Amino acid sequence: MNTLREQFPLFSRNIASRPVTYFDYSATTPKPRSVINAMIRHLEQGTGNPGRSTHALSFEAQQAIENTRQAILSFVHASSQTYAVIFTKSATEALNLAAHLVRNLDFSTILTTTLEHHSNFLPWKRLPHKKIQLLKTENGVFSFDILPTLRKALLAITHGSNVTGQVLSLKRISDYAEKNESITVLDATQTIAHIPLNLSETPVDFLAFSGHKLYGPEGIGVLIAKKKYLQGQKPMIVGGGSVTHVSTTETTFKSSEEAFEAGTPHVTGIIGLSAALSFITELGFSHIQQAEKEISSLLQQKLSHFSDISLLGDNKPHDLPIYSFSHKTIHPHDIASFLDEQGIAVRAGFHCAEPLHLDAGYGPTTRISASFLTTEEEVNFCIEQLRACLKKYQ
Ligand code: ALA
Repeated sequence: MNTLREQFPLFSRNIASRPVTYFDYSATTPKPRSVINAMIRHLEQGTGNPGRSTHALSFEAQQAIENTRQAILSFVHASSQTYAVIFTKSATEALNLAAHLVRNLDFSTILTTTLEHHSNFLPWKRLPHKKIQLLKTENGVFSFDILPTLRKALLAITHGSNVTGQVLSLKRISDYAEKNESITVLDATQTIAHIPLNLSETPVDFLAFSGHKLYGPEGIGVLIAKKKYLQGQKPMIVGGGSVTHVSTTETTFKSSEEAFEAGTPHVTGIIGLSAALSFITELGFSHIQQAEKEISSLLQQKLSHFSDISLLGDNKPHDLPIYSFSHKTIHPHDIASFLDEQGIAVRAGFHCAEPLHLDAGYGPTTRISASFLTTEEEVNFCIEQLRACLKKYQ
């Protein structure tokens, strides 16, 4: 049996003449061999356009898609009676689709937070006739205490911050929505591979995530939506595969989720996503959460020793192993470039969450994001090189 890291070909790659030290899991995740093999198998053996042709290869592709829809529902413990799974090209497209689906519903206020990724802010910002009420953080930390009691609002909220690693209680979100008859849109992009979700116990109306932050491929995203929101809706994108009837004057859209998936689906991506779900399920969330808790504590402990850097968010171990920081004088891009020269991958900038940085009084930051795959040696090497970087520039 291979060790866990041996299942990831990325770790045998050298960058800057040494094995890559990967600390950018919040941007995208490496792929295990099982995901890569499933996609290669499909590319080599499967060439069917699903739902279009009437041959074995087409049926097989269609079956793979339907099986993945079911696998996604099982993964988040959602009932197929209540929820539908729509494939998109990214979590961003999924959130845009959620905004499209609710645009004419009866609510006037969108409650959202400064913690959001731009993808869970911009689609709401441009909805006409809706008012945004922005809930701020305190030094980058969000508290439910400031959530106003507002009936029939829409709550567009992240489950976990890609900048501070703060995880928001899904129970609080779900209970709030039920009590106040609100519509909830949950951005689970940063938590889907880290925390088990259970939509039977803590339902939301919409949930978005992407494949590539779940150890699957890029180019595939998911919107899980309550079926009631799809009924009678016009799709955001129209074209082949979304209709049952088209004449020069009339169009009849499908009544299933396929109405929202016009165009040939990304079958390879869907198959890769399915393999990624199996990989996580077999590994188990208890292992993932235990390992990530330890890595998060280690990172927090080591980073807190630097007097000249300021961590965005909590001063205690973060819920997810994600730490963004600024230095008194050194620009984050200089830090990221220095680390890159040592084969260490981190991200610098606003991480597509500029409102959070502004709210907390920060400029751009350097972000270290880890996972259950991160080793203590990697943390030590990164910290040692960070120290060398600060010494060089100070
Ligand atoms: N949303 C991704 C990140 O946090 C790209 O880096």
